[in-house]
Amino acid sequence: MSRASKIVFKLNSLPYLIQKEKKITMEKTVLIAYASKYGATAGIAEKIGEVLGQEGLKVEVLQARRVSDLNTYGAVVIGSGIYIGQWLKEAAALLQDHEQALSRQPVWLFSDGPTGAGDPSTLTQEFRFPEKLKPIADQIEPRDIALFHGMIDPKKISFIEKMAIKAVKAPTGDFRDWTAITTWAKAIADALKK
Ligand SMILES: Cc1cc2nc3c(=O)[nH]c(=O)nc-3n(C[C@H](O)[C@H](O)[C@H](O)COP(=O)(O)O)c2cc1C
Repeated sequence: MSRASKIVFKLNSLPYLIQKEKKITMEKTVLIAYASKYGATAGIAEKIGEVLGQEGLKVEVLQARRVSDLNTYGAVVIGSGIYIGQWLKEAAALLQDHEQALSRQPVWLFSDGPTGAGDPSTLTQEFRFPEKLKPIADQIEPRDIALFHGMIDPKKISFIEKMAIKAVKAPTGDFRDWTAITTWAKAIADALKK
C-alpha cells in the first residue's frame, strides 16, 4: 500500500473508530449510587435511573454502602441528602475510598436538601456540596454537581431532628422537583451518547 493510500485508509477508519468509542460507553452500565436516610435521595436516584434507561443506557441504582468495585462501570452518578451541611457518611466514604477509580471515569454528583419554594441554591445560600469533600471532588473533576430540592417528612424524623428543623424554620413536605431532576438526567444521557 502506498503512503498516500495508507493515509486515505486511516482517514476512512476514523468514523468507525469514533463510533466504536461511543458504543463502548453505551454498552457499559451507568451506576447511580446514593445515600438516603429517609428515602428522598433514593427516589431521586431511581428517577435518574429511569430517565437514563429510557434514553437507552444500561443502569444500576445502588445504595452507596453496597458498592464495591467501580471499575466495571462506564459512568457514575453519586448523590446524598444533606444533613447539617454534610453528606451522609456512606456517600462521603464512596467518594473517599474510590477517589482513584472515580477520577478515571465520567462522574456526576448531586446533593438534595433544601425545602420550600424558590431556587434551591438560593435557599441554601449557594451551598451545593460539602466543603469537606471539595478536595476529593477537585481530584475526581465531576462533570457537574447538582443541588435539588429535598423532602422532609415530619412523621419520619426524630424528635431532635424536628427541633433542629424548627430552629432553622425549614418547611416540611416533599419539594423534590421532578422536572429539574429529569432535565439533569437527560443532560447526562446526552453527554454519554455523544
Ligand atoms: C436533621 C436534619 C438536618 C438537615 N440539614 C440540612 C442542611 O443542612 N441543608 C439542607 O439543605 N437540607 C438539610 N436537611 C434536609 C434534608 O437534606 C432533606 O430532607 C433531604 O431530602 C433528605 O434526604 P434523604 O431522605 O434521602 O436522607 C436536613 C434535614 C434534617 C432532618
